[in-house]
Amino acid sequence: MNQLINSIGNWVDERLPVTDFWKKHISEYYAPKNFNLWYFFGSLSMLVLANQLLTGIFLTMHYKPGAETAFASVEYIMRDVEWGWLIRYMHSTGASLFFVVVYLHMFRALMYGSYQKPREIVWILGVTIYLILMAESFMGYVLPWGQMSYWGAQVIISLFGAVPYVGEALVEWIRGDYFVADATLNRFFALHVVALPLVLVGLVVLHLAALHEVGSNNPEGVDIKAKKDSAGRPLDGIPFHPYYTIKDIFGVGVFLFLAAFIVFFAPEFGGKFLKPDNFVQANPLVTPDHIPPVWYFTPFYAILQAVPDKLLGVILMGVSVLILYLVPWLDRSPVRSIRYRSWPSKVALGIFVIAFIRLGMLGLSQDSSTFELRLWTFVYFAFFILMPIWTRLESTKPVPERVPSL
Ligand code: HEM
Repeated sequence: MNQLINSIGNWVDERLPVTDFWKKHISEYYAPKNFNLWYFFGSLSMLVLANQLLTGIFLTMHYKPGAETAFASVEYIMRDVEWGWLIRYMHSTGASLFFVVVYLHMFRALMYGSYQKPREIVWILGVTIYLILMAESFMGYVLPWGQMSYWGAQVIISLFGAVPYVGEALVEWIRGDYFVADATLNRFFALHVVALPLVLVGLVVLHLAALHEVGSNNPEGVDIKAKKDSAGRPLDGIPFHPYYTIKDIFGVGVFLFLAAFIVFFAPEFGGKFLKPDNFVQANPLVTPDHIPPVWYFTPFYAILQAVPDKLLGVILMGVSVLILYLVPWLDRSPVRSIRYRSWPSKVALGIFVIAFIRLGMLGLSQDSSTFELRLWTFVYFAFFILMPIWTRLESTKPVPERVPSL
């Protein structure tokens, strides 16, 4: 039997290098031995992506795009399709969990300087994934054709109207009609179900290819490739499989336990993941009192509101995301990890996190104070703009040549 399996394996390998691929990227990919809890979120992002794709396929089997049919088809999925409620909640809750996991993944990169040379492209692809993820979830939110879907789309699409000269034409082009309508819903469906998932999966493959080309960073920021044994293996590296496959499975177990708890007991998460208004069918004649975006967009929505001028607000909001691309060049520190930096880096990152959370809260609320909106927007941008200054001036501790043992 073993012989048969081996000969089939050889037959395949001569035609498609499966074993080589497995060795290069898994069993002989040497990852730093000191990964901590923060390194769970990359594999968890892949898990949530897989969940979104799988549950999305099943939802698509029953969902009917179209202004006349969409809302009722979602209700049908929730009430009549066997286990439809579970598939739908796994998808809608999954979207929010995706952002939780991705935000923690990005925070890890900021903490350990994972975007620094030679991982700039890993980071650039990451930021692009984040942008596409935002577009993907925005369009997905429109599909149930509830009040929030409709009016959320109305608010966000009309932002493009701020573009000088071509604004109104642009808005019409995006909507495909003179108002958010059937045509808008159908194109968002096509983009949400086919185009953007393809782009996302392609970007994730590139993200990992770029990472494996240069190797993973670690909580110490030590370059493990600098010290190798006689066989060329990093002295502080361990094979990804079995060590990190096992570790990641543990992370997956804990995550699934928490995710299942939310899906079964609080799928709408008190109106934060799915708003009550979205259980009312879209009505172009009735504008809801308050149309806040879903929680993961609210920090940027708050930045938009901080400026009275529409065009300036839209520009500032765009820049607040795009500025992430520049982080590898804004950070001038000679060391990667926050562990070897001094207080300015630690305080700045702490304040930045507070600003981001506070902006998120302000963006959710209906009557946020303008002063606070502006204060935290200022702090948000100051983090990036002042980064070249404090990272160059602060003193750093010498980084050891090897990963210190515990
Ligand atoms: C669908 C979303 C994403 C997936 C599936 C994904 C997947 C991964 C995986 C599996 C790793 C290796 C394991 C790890 O280091 O945790 C990784 C590393 C990394 N990711 Fe992502 N990622 C995603 C989004 C992002 C985003 C949005 C950013 C930043 C804006 C980002 C930046 C990075 C960086 C800098 C590394 C290298 C970390 C290091 O070596 O310390 N990723 N990603």
